[in-house]
Amino acid sequence: MSKLFTPTRIGSLTLKNRFVRSATWENMATEDGHMTDKLYGIYRELAEGGVGLIATGYANIVADEKPNAGMMGMYDDSFIPEYKKLTDLVHQHDSKIMMQLAYGGTKTTYNLGERVIFAPSEVAERGTQTLGKAMTIDEIAYIVEAFAKASLRAKESGFDGIEIHAAHTYLINQFLSPYYNQRTDEYGGSFENRMRFLLEIFEATRKLVGVDFPILIKLTATEFFEGGLTFGETRKICKKLEQVGADALIISGNIHGKAIDMVGESFDGYMLEKEGFFHQYGDVISREVNIPVITVGGLTDIEAIGQIAENTSIECFALSRPLLSEPNLIKRWEEGDRSPALCETCSKCRTKRGNFCVVNKERKAQIAAL
Ligand SMILES: Cc1cc2nc3c(=O)[nH]c(=O)nc-3n(C[C@H](O)[C@H](O)[C@H](O)COP(=O)(O)O)c2cc1C
Repeated sequence: MSKLFTPTRIGSLTLKNRFVRSATWENMATEDGHMTDKLYGIYRELAEGGVGLIATGYANIVADEKPNAGMMGMYDDSFIPEYKKLTDLVHQHDSKIMMQLAYGGTKTTYNLGERVIFAPSEVAERGTQTLGKAMTIDEIAYIVEAFAKASLRAKESGFDGIEIHAAHTYLINQFLSPYYNQRTDEYGGSFENRMRFLLEIFEATRKLVGVDFPILIKLTATEFFEGGLTFGETRKICKKLEQVGADALIISGNIHGKAIDMVGESFDGYMLEKEGFFHQYGDVISREVNIPVITVGGLTDIEAIGQIAENTSIECFALSRPLLSEPNLIKRWEEGDRSPALCETCSKCRTKRGNFCVVNKERKAQIAAL
């Protein structure tokens, strides 16, 4: 268990402990994605709360695509000064911060009809039923370049790295998926072709940010449905990403609201666990690559997290909902109060007034005071 509070490295970066704030959309930015006092307050709380690395909520890379209200933006240079203030604030508290960059796509019902939503093919997203526009080659090139440019802005803003969101049925995940990607050109069909979009984004980004700037990739372990991306394919993607120079991999799933009800069920040969839903998948990958693997999903008990750290090669542990409930959780654990997180994994934390825990009754007043 003590290992959890020892330093580790992600590429050129040293983290003070093994805890990561998983990327979490806060719904607290302005309409056009700019910082607010509340949002600075959220990040101050997290940095003071002891987490080694903070991933921001997903930030949109082009102005014309925004899958949710109140999300952060990184689509032009106007963001750089305010993010410099943010990264300085986090660094003052001895924490590190990366920006998660995303193109949402069809996993949204936000402002439909008002904008063009890109997709690999015209296949409705299984949950939202939203249909996107099958991208042309020029549109693919536009998004590849937008990821790279947003990453460079992140570097110029003082972020310690970036995280490419390639999970949760967002656009990159859909390109990887044989279900969503029905293309017949060089971006679809074979496994190699489905990987091309992600690899082009990675390579364009690496070229702009240089070799020393950490690039993390968040992936879905398996899509958990027949015909979707399998764990076998994800394992191959991870090896390829290691080979091209990714600095760490975050192994997630796309079923967080439902995962708690699926505990004990097996998919692609591995089982969902009560503590750390997807850690069996992360464990397999962590033994197959030589870059850090981060597990995320359903981690609430430090004793159980300690056991996973002892029994697997998983390097870091990312939490989202528990930190929406208790941003000081890691410090609390470190200082000796090792009772599990108050988080009930109920996913009621998305509210119109911002995303925070509604079960922890103190939280509403704390948010109001930020
Ligand atoms: C309110 C909310 C917002 C989220 N926003 C993001 C996001 O911006 N990017 C992302 O990759 N995942 C996002 N997630 C998923 C989390 O990062 C995490 O993968 C998931 O909640 C499982 O972890 P947990 O059990 O610790 O909450 C979000 C989850 C919640 C509850």
